[in-house]
Amino acid sequence: MPRVASRKRRAWKRAAMTDVVTLVTGTRKGIGRFLAEHYVAQGHIVYGCSRQASDLVADNYTHFCLDVADERAVRRMMSHLRRATGRLDHLVNNAGVAAMNHAMLTPLSTVRSILDTNVTGTFLVCREAAKLMKAESYGRIVNFISVAAPLHVEGEAIYAASKSAVQTLTQILARELAGFGITVNAVGPTPTMTDLIRSVPQDRIDRLLASQAIARLGNFDDIVNVVDFFLKRESGFVTAQSLYLGGVC
Ligand SMILES: NC(=O)c1ccc[n+]([C@@H]2O[C@H](COP(=O)([O-])OP(=O)(O)OC[C@H]3O[C@@H](n4cnc5c(N)ncnc54)[C@H](OP(=O)(O)O)[C@@H]3O)[C@@H](O)[C@H]2O)c1
Repeated sequence: MPRVASRKRRAWKRAAMTDVVTLVTGTRKGIGRFLAEHYVAQGHIVYGCSRQASDLVADNYTHFCLDVADERAVRRMMSHLRRATGRLDHLVNNAGVAAMNHAMLTPLSTVRSILDTNVTGTFLVCREAAKLMKAESYGRIVNFISVAAPLHVEGEAIYAASKSAVQTLTQILARELAGFGITVNAVGPTPTMTDLIRSVPQDRIDRLLASQAIARLGNFDDIVNVVDFFLKRESGFVTAQSLYLGGVC
Protein backbone atom coordinates (compact mmCIF):
# COMPACT_ATOMS: atom_id res chain seq x y z
CA MET A 1 0.00 0.00 0.00
CA PRO A 2 1.19 3.55 -0.64
CA ARG A 3 2.96 5.38 2.15
CA VAL A 4 1.04 8.63 2.00
CA ALA A 5 -0.49 10.62 4.84
CA SER A 6 -4.18 11.36 4.33
CA ARG A 7 -3.63 15.08 5.03
CA LYS A 8 -0.97 15.18 2.33
CA ARG A 9 -3.25 13.29 -0.02
CA ARG A 10 -6.01 15.88 0.47
CA ALA A 11 -3.54 18.72 -0.04
CA TRP A 12 -2.53 17.25 -3.39
CA LYS A 13 -6.04 16.41 -4.50
CA ARG A 14 -6.17 17.66 -8.05
CA ALA A 15 -2.66 18.90 -8.68
CA ALA A 16 -2.52 22.58 -9.63
CA MET A 17 -1.83 23.27 -13.29
CA THR A 18 1.65 24.49 -12.31
CA ASP A 19 2.48 21.21 -10.52
CA VAL A 20 4.35 18.56 -12.45
CA VAL A 21 3.37 14.96 -11.70
CA THR A 22 6.08 12.37 -12.41
CA LEU A 23 5.97 8.60 -11.98
CA VAL A 24 9.29 6.71 -11.95
CA THR A 25 9.32 2.91 -11.66
CA GLY A 26 12.05 0.98 -9.86
CA THR A 27 12.93 3.78 -7.40
CA ARG A 28 14.23 1.74 -4.44
CA LYS A 29 17.84 1.86 -5.68
CA GLY A 30 20.14 2.43 -8.62
CA ILE A 31 19.25 4.72 -11.51
CA GLY A 32 15.56 4.92 -10.52
CA ARG A 33 16.43 6.11 -7.04
CA PHE A 34 18.65 8.85 -8.49
CA LEU A 35 15.88 9.89 -10.91
CA ALA A 36 13.32 10.04 -8.09
CA GLU A 37 15.61 12.21 -5.94
CA HIS A 38 16.33 14.43 -8.96
CA TYR A 39 12.64 15.12 -9.66
CA VAL A 40 11.83 15.47 -5.95
CA ALA A 41 14.56 18.16 -5.78
CA GLN A 42 12.99 19.89 -8.79
CA GLY A 43 9.68 20.12 -6.90
CA HIS A 44 7.70 17.62 -8.96
CA ILE A 45 5.00 15.56 -7.26
CA VAL A 46 6.87 12.26 -7.57
CA TYR A 47 5.47 8.74 -7.37
CA GLY A 48 7.77 5.73 -7.31
CA CYS A 49 7.49 1.98 -6.97
CA SER A 50 9.48 -1.19 -6.41
CA ARG A 51 8.83 -4.68 -5.07
CA GLN A 52 10.60 -3.96 -1.78
CA ALA A 53 10.03 -0.93 0.46
CA SER A 54 11.94 2.30 -0.13
CA ASP A 55 13.58 4.51 2.49
CA LEU A 56 13.23 7.63 0.33
CA VAL A 57 11.23 10.13 2.37
CA ALA A 58 10.12 13.54 1.07
CA ASP A 59 6.88 15.56 1.29
CA ASN A 60 6.48 15.36 -2.47
CA TYR A 61 7.32 11.64 -2.80
CA THR A 62 4.95 8.66 -2.51
CA HIS A 63 6.15 5.07 -2.79
CA PHE A 64 4.14 2.03 -3.85
CA CYS A 65 5.34 -1.50 -3.11
CA LEU A 66 4.41 -3.45 -6.22
CA ASP A 67 5.65 -5.60 -9.04
CA VAL A 68 5.26 -3.76 -12.36
CA ALA A 69 4.22 -7.05 -13.97
CA ASP A 70 1.22 -7.33 -11.62
CA GLU A 71 -1.66 -5.86 -13.61
CA ARG A 72 -4.00 -5.36 -10.65
CA ALA A 73 -1.32 -3.65 -8.57
CA VAL A 74 -0.40 -1.32 -11.44
CA ARG A 75 -4.08 -0.45 -11.93
CA ARG A 76 -4.45 0.24 -8.19
CA MET A 77 -1.43 2.55 -8.24
CA MET A 78 -2.79 4.43 -11.23
CA SER A 79 -6.24 4.87 -9.72
CA HIS A 80 -4.63 6.15 -6.53
CA LEU A 81 -2.72 8.63 -8.67
CA ARG A 82 -5.87 9.62 -10.54
CA ARG A 83 -7.69 10.33 -7.26
CA ALA A 84 -4.73 12.12 -5.66
CA THR A 85 -3.57 14.37 -8.48
CA GLY A 86 -6.10 14.04 -11.31
CA ARG A 87 -3.34 13.71 -13.87
CA LEU A 88 0.10 12.42 -14.83
CA ASP A 89 2.63 14.42 -16.85
CA HIS A 90 5.63 12.08 -16.93
CA LEU A 91 6.28 8.36 -16.78
CA VAL A 92 9.84 7.05 -16.57
CA ASN A 93 9.74 3.26 -16.97
CA ASN A 94 13.07 2.46 -15.33
CA ALA A 95 12.32 -0.78 -13.43
CA GLY A 96 14.31 -3.62 -14.92
CA VAL A 97 16.13 -6.84 -14.13
CA ALA A 98 19.03 -8.61 -15.84
CA ALA A 99 20.89 -11.91 -15.66
CA MET A 100 24.14 -12.87 -17.32
CA ASN A 101 24.40 -16.48 -18.42
CA HIS A 102 25.15 -18.53 -21.50
CA ALA A 103 21.86 -19.33 -23.30
CA MET A 104 22.35 -23.06 -22.72
CA LEU A 105 22.57 -22.45 -18.96
CA THR A 106 19.62 -20.07 -18.68
CA PRO A 107 16.66 -21.56 -16.81
CA LEU A 108 13.10 -20.88 -17.91
CA SER A 109 12.39 -19.14 -14.58
CA THR A 110 15.05 -16.52 -15.46
CA VAL A 111 13.60 -16.04 -18.94
CA ARG A 112 10.12 -15.51 -17.48
CA SER A 113 11.27 -13.13 -14.77
CA ILE A 114 13.21 -10.92 -17.23
CA LEU A 115 10.40 -10.80 -19.78
CA ASP A 116 7.78 -10.21 -17.05
CA THR A 117 9.50 -7.19 -15.55
CA ASN A 118 11.17 -5.65 -18.59
CA VAL A 119 8.51 -6.22 -21.26
CA THR A 120 5.17 -6.95 -19.56
CA GLY A 121 5.86 -4.46 -16.75
CA THR A 122 6.88 -1.68 -19.13
CA PHE A 123 3.81 -2.33 -21.28
CA LEU A 124 1.35 -2.38 -18.37
CA VAL A 125 2.62 0.83 -16.82
CA CYS A 126 2.65 2.55 -20.25
CA ARG A 127 -0.90 1.39 -20.95
CA GLU A 128 -2.33 2.56 -17.63
CA ALA A 129 -0.35 5.82 -17.62
CA ALA A 130 -1.51 6.65 -21.16
CA LYS A 131 -5.16 6.46 -20.03
CA LEU A 132 -4.46 9.10 -17.39
CA MET A 133 -2.34 11.28 -19.71
CA LYS A 134 -4.98 11.14 -22.44
CA ALA A 135 -7.40 13.06 -20.19
CA GLU A 136 -5.07 16.09 -20.33
CA SER A 137 -4.02 15.50 -23.97
CA TYR A 138 -0.45 15.64 -22.72
CA GLY A 139 2.21 13.22 -21.57
CA ARG A 140 5.85 12.21 -21.77
CA ILE A 141 6.91 8.57 -21.49
CA VAL A 142 10.54 7.44 -21.31
CA ASN A 143 11.33 3.72 -21.43
CA PHE A 144 14.65 2.06 -20.56
CA ILE A 145 16.52 0.00 -23.13
CA SER A 146 20.21 -1.02 -23.08
CA VAL A 147 23.35 -1.06 -25.21
CA ALA A 148 23.33 -4.84 -24.61
CA ALA A 149 20.93 -5.12 -27.59
CA PRO A 150 22.82 -3.24 -30.35
CA LEU A 151 26.17 -4.59 -29.08
CA HIS A 152 24.84 -8.18 -29.08
CA VAL A 153 26.46 -8.87 -25.72
CA GLU A 154 27.11 -12.59 -25.23
CA GLY A 155 25.53 -13.96 -22.08
CA GLU A 156 22.68 -11.46 -22.23
CA ALA A 157 20.49 -13.04 -24.92
CA ILE A 158 17.22 -12.80 -22.96
CA TYR A 159 18.00 -9.42 -21.36
CA ALA A 160 18.98 -7.91 -24.74
CA ALA A 161 15.93 -9.47 -26.42
CA SER A 162 13.69 -7.97 -23.71
CA LYS A 163 15.18 -4.53 -24.35
CA SER A 164 14.72 -4.93 -28.14
CA ALA A 165 11.07 -5.65 -27.37
CA VAL A 166 10.88 -2.46 -25.29
CA GLN A 167 12.40 -0.51 -28.18
CA THR A 168 9.74 -1.82 -30.58
CA LEU A 169 7.05 -1.15 -27.98
CA THR A 170 8.34 2.42 -27.73
CA GLN A 171 8.18 2.94 -31.51
CA ILE A 172 4.65 1.59 -31.87
CA LEU A 173 3.24 3.26 -28.75
CA ALA A 174 4.71 6.53 -30.03
CA ARG A 175 2.47 6.23 -33.10
CA GLU A 176 -0.59 5.05 -31.20
CA LEU A 177 -0.34 7.80 -28.57
CA ALA A 178 0.81 10.75 -30.71
CA GLY A 179 -2.77 11.85 -31.32
CA PHE A 180 -3.25 12.27 -27.55
CA GLY A 181 -0.27 14.60 -27.18
CA ILE A 182 1.83 11.84 -25.61
CA THR A 183 5.42 11.23 -26.69
CA VAL A 184 7.19 7.90 -26.10
CA ASN A 185 10.99 7.63 -26.27
CA ALA A 186 13.71 5.36 -24.91
CA VAL A 187 17.10 5.87 -23.30
CA GLY A 188 19.79 3.19 -23.58
CA PRO A 189 22.44 3.47 -20.85
CA THR A 190 25.93 1.98 -21.15
CA PRO A 191 27.27 -0.01 -18.16
CA THR A 192 26.61 2.10 -15.06
CA MET A 193 27.74 0.95 -11.59
CA THR A 194 24.59 -0.34 -9.90
CA ASP A 195 23.59 -3.71 -8.42
CA LEU A 196 22.37 -4.70 -11.90
CA ILE A 197 25.91 -5.20 -13.19
CA ARG A 198 27.86 -5.73 -9.96
CA SER A 199 28.28 -9.45 -10.62
CA VAL A 200 29.45 -9.00 -14.22
CA PRO A 201 33.19 -9.87 -14.44
CA GLN A 202 35.48 -6.86 -14.95
CA ASP A 203 36.99 -8.25 -18.21
CA ARG A 204 33.48 -8.42 -19.71
CA ILE A 205 32.78 -4.82 -18.73
CA ASP A 206 36.13 -3.70 -20.15
CA ARG A 207 35.34 -5.42 -23.47
CA LEU A 208 31.94 -3.77 -23.58
CA LEU A 209 33.37 -0.31 -22.85
CA ALA A 210 35.97 -0.82 -25.58
CA SER A 211 33.21 -1.24 -28.16
CA GLN A 212 31.65 2.15 -27.31
CA ALA A 213 32.71 5.32 -29.17
CA ILE A 214 33.43 6.88 -25.75
CA ALA A 215 35.01 4.09 -23.72
CA ARG A 216 34.00 4.83 -20.14
CA LEU A 217 31.36 3.76 -17.64
CA GLY A 218 28.15 5.76 -17.67
CA ASN A 219 27.02 7.74 -14.67
CA PHE A 220 23.63 8.80 -13.34
CA ASP A 221 23.99 12.37 -14.66
CA ASP A 222 24.53 11.08 -18.23
CA ILE A 223 21.18 9.29 -18.01
CA VAL A 224 19.23 12.07 -16.26
CA ASN A 225 20.35 14.49 -18.96
CA VAL A 226 18.67 12.39 -21.66
CA VAL A 227 15.54 11.72 -19.58
CA ASP A 228 15.24 15.46 -18.85
CA PHE A 229 15.42 16.19 -22.58
CA PHE A 230 12.68 13.70 -23.47
CA LEU A 231 10.46 15.02 -20.63
CA LYS A 232 10.72 18.67 -21.65
CA ARG A 233 7.49 20.28 -22.88
CA GLU A 234 9.58 21.63 -25.80
CA SER A 235 10.38 18.03 -26.86
CA GLY A 236 6.83 17.56 -28.14
CA PHE A 237 8.07 16.89 -31.71
CA VAL A 238 10.47 14.17 -30.50
CA THR A 239 8.92 10.72 -30.27
CA ALA A 240 9.68 7.04 -31.09
CA GLN A 241 13.40 7.72 -30.58
CA SER A 242 15.97 5.47 -28.92
CA LEU A 243 19.00 7.33 -27.62
CA TYR A 244 21.99 5.17 -26.72
CA LEU A 245 24.71 6.72 -24.60
CA GLY A 246 28.47 6.44 -25.16
CA GLY A 247 28.21 6.60 -28.95
CA VAL A 248 26.61 3.17 -29.32
CA CYS A 249 24.24 2.86 -32.25
N1 LIG B 1 23.15 -0.30 -14.70
C1 LIG B 1 23.44 -0.53 -15.98
O1 LIG B 1 24.59 -0.79 -16.35
C2 LIG B 1 22.34 -0.44 -17.03
C3 LIG B 1 22.73 -0.42 -18.38
C4 LIG B 1 21.74 -0.36 -19.36
C5 LIG B 1 20.41 -0.29 -18.98
N2 LIG B 1 20.06 -0.31 -17.64
C6 LIG B 1 18.63 -0.26 -17.32
O2 LIG B 1 18.41 0.77 -16.37
C7 LIG B 1 17.28 0.43 -15.55
C8 LIG B 1 17.64 0.57 -14.08
O3 LIG B 1 18.69 -0.34 -13.79
P1 LIG B 1 19.63 -0.21 -12.51
O4 LIG B 1 21.02 -0.38 -12.98
O5 LIG B 1 19.30 1.00 -11.71
O6 LIG B 1 19.20 -1.55 -11.72
P2 LIG B 1 19.13 -1.86 -10.15
O7 LIG B 1 20.12 -1.07 -9.41
O8 LIG B 1 19.11 -3.34 -10.05
O9 LIG B 1 17.66 -1.29 -9.76
C9 LIG B 1 16.51 -1.83 -10.32
C10 LIG B 1 15.30 -1.15 -9.67
O10 LIG B 1 14.10 -1.68 -10.26
C11 LIG B 1 13.28 -2.23 -9.22
N3 LIG B 1 12.57 -3.39 -9.79
C12 LIG B 1 13.12 -4.50 -10.36
N4 LIG B 1 12.16 -5.34 -10.76
C13 LIG B 1 10.97 -4.76 -10.46
C14 LIG B 1 9.62 -5.13 -10.62
N5 LIG B 1 9.27 -6.31 -11.19
N6 LIG B 1 8.64 -4.29 -10.21
C15 LIG B 1 8.98 -3.11 -9.62
N7 LIG B 1 10.23 -2.69 -9.44
C16 LIG B 1 11.23 -3.51 -9.85
C17 LIG B 1 14.24 -2.58 -8.08
O11 LIG B 1 13.63 -2.58 -6.79
P3 LIG B 1 13.05 -3.95 -6.13
O12 LIG B 1 14.14 -4.96 -6.21
O13 LIG B 1 12.68 -3.55 -4.74
O14 LIG B 1 11.85 -4.33 -6.95
C18 LIG B 1 15.21 -1.40 -8.18
O15 LIG B 1 14.69 -0.27 -7.53
C19 LIG B 1 16.88 -1.00 -15.95
O16 LIG B 1 15.79 -0.96 -16.83
C20 LIG B 1 18.11 -1.52 -16.65
O17 LIG B 1 17.81 -2.54 -17.59
C21 LIG B 1 21.00 -0.37 -16.67
